[in-house]
Amino acid sequence: MQDRKFYTDANRTSWDEVAPRHRASNQENLLEGVTKPGYNALVPELIETFNLIDIKGKNVAQVCCNNAKDLLSVIKMGARSGVGIDASAAFIDQGNEIIEAAGHQDDIELIVSDVYDLPKELEGQFDIVMTTVGVMSWMPDLSAFFKVINSLLKPGGYYLVEEMHPVLLMYEQDENGVSRPLYSYFKEGPWKDTNGLDYFGHSEYESKPSYSFQHKMDDILMAGINLGLSLKHIREIDHDISNFCMDLQHQEIKPPLGINLIFEKSA
Ligand SMILES: C[S@@+](CC[C@H](N)C(=O)[O-])C[C@H]1O[C@@H](n2cnc3c(N)ncnc32)[C@H](O)[C@@H]1O
Repeated sequence: MQDRKFYTDANRTSWDEVAPRHRASNQENLLEGVTKPGYNALVPELIETFNLIDIKGKNVAQVCCNNAKDLLSVIKMGARSGVGIDASAAFIDQGNEIIEAAGHQDDIELIVSDVYDLPKELEGQFDIVMTTVGVMSWMPDLSAFFKVINSLLKPGGYYLVEEMHPVLLMYEQDENGVSRPLYSYFKEGPWKDTNGLDYFGHSEYESKPSYSFQHKMDDILMAGINLGLSLKHIREIDHDISNFCMDLQHQEIKPPLGINLIFEKSA
């Protein structure tokens, strides 16, 4: 293992590198879609999870927000204000265009920062912190990541998680689009990928290396529990929420594909 910054710097470069491809696949539709009154990018299960807590008038942070369409959706559902944080300046640029198109510049602010190096003034500011699918596997140190999340929360605040199920990370798709388990659930050390991060256009290209990590279900739950966070809700999801090994959702015998969690910080 290298030190944490080696991985986060490499991953930031890879996300900046793929940003123009995601822009080409999505940005035009998003800029039009977000102007519609009922716009909501969240999948139904995540909307149901948000409906378990009171979001009206709350201040929300989305960590690793990418283009912040999910944060925008939560603001449109009734939260008061939001801060989105992502290491990739290229995705934050796309996010700012989306937020401006939606007319939410006054209640959403986007910040370029590594999650492990957030500005101190954000600490204790948020009623809700959210991460949506595809964040934890980018974290070389999950315990330190949870410490950051915990530091952002006000007492009594909630951390809402939507993630790929850790069992799903055992799988890889072959060239015919068929997914099979190739990796141990207990894999240690990073995956190194040089095929790019275009999970929308599904183009493969020779990319700068990115590094992702397996965090088992007990690692995820214990990272919260060890900080005194209470687990209030857990839901396992049986269909594709991540554009990863998408064929699995159509199989009769399949692994769990996604999870939703709610942690609560004590008041
Ligand atoms: C799979 S995307 C999240 C997608 C998001 N849920 C959405 O629906 O748009 C992961 C994001 O995490 C960001 N990221 C990865 N490592 C990070 C770090 N150390 N600090 C901040 N952001 C990071 C990437 O730049 C990327 O935008």
